[in-house]
Amino acid sequence: MARKIIIDTDPGQDDAVAILLALASPEEIKVLGITAVAGNVPLALTAKNARIVCELAGRPDVPVYAGCDRPLGRKLVTAEHVHGKTGLNGPVLPDPVMPLQDGHAVDFIIETLRREDAGAVTLCPLGPLTNIAMAFEKAPDIMDRVAGIVLMGGAYFEVGNITPAAEFNIYVDPQAADIVFKSGVDITVMPLDVTHKALVTRARNDAFRALGNRVGVAVAEMTDFFERFDKEKYGSEGAPLHDPCVTAYLIRPELFSGRHINVEIETRSELTLGMTVADWWRVTDRAPNAMFMGDVDADGFFALLTERLARL
Ligand code: RIB
Ligand code: CA
Repeated sequence: MARKIIIDTDPGQDDAVAILLALASPEEIKVLGITAVAGNVPLALTAKNARIVCELAGRPDVPVYAGCDRPLGRKLVTAEHVHGKTGLNGPVLPDPVMPLQDGHAVDFIIETLRREDAGAVTLCPLGPLTNIAMAFEKAPDIMDRVAGIVLMGGAYFEVGNITPAAEFNIYVDPQAADIVFKSGVDITVMPLDVTHKALVTRARNDAFRALGNRVGVAVAEMTDFFERFDKEKYGSEGAPLHDPCVTAYLIRPELFSGRHINVEIETRSELTLGMTVADWWRVTDRAPNAMFMGDVDADGFFALLTERLARL
């Protein structure tokens, strides 16, 4: 029975791959809709890019909604230095024909959770948590209807990628992250500790290109583009596929391992704003509130991803 999900996203090349993997896996995943949020690039672009990716997957039927255009209480910080001016630099892809749905993404999230059975819908945020937090604030009744949240964000051993202490998705909207992590909803976190182990090496990029379909070539071109930031900064072997770890977890959770621990968000200090303070060693008596992943079977992950992308 496929799991019903809403993907909340700020595409972003890695968001794009996460969406493609989800749309290529109908046995395991039913995408009820995609909600765009401001993050890697401004909202107008993330809402456009989400539709470009749906059409690349041959799925113009997927409802795409635009959500919040800025964090709850701060100025928007974007990441064009990583993802390029459009947010999807790399492949040349046509502008979307499919329209945005009317209505705000936050209302789509609320209405969907109220309409579907309690415990039927999983939320999969791949960007800043603004839309999710707004939905919880506007309609607290939906929190105990959510089956769970599987998100990409945060870092502990890997520390920050946008500041020395914070990972981008949490840093952009720490207040929203604090609301989500304190919501009591079952949360699974894919932090940089895991995603930095899912690197698109040359061989893995070649395997995408060798698929011979439009999607394979586009994914190879996307990762070719967005790997430069991480290769330069970390000297890593290739682009870390952050967001596809969320989708892969929904399909094959056994690829990942971690601990159920307490994770809290720094929301006050300018020095460590957005840090996910993960009590990995359980040194406090703070109640565990998240399954915080620490490791991934990278070969298994790429085998799954490549096999599924071949279907599109
Ligand atoms: O820090 C990595 C995260 O920030 C990923 O979700 C990437 O798409 C950006 O949103
Ligand atoms: Ca993202």
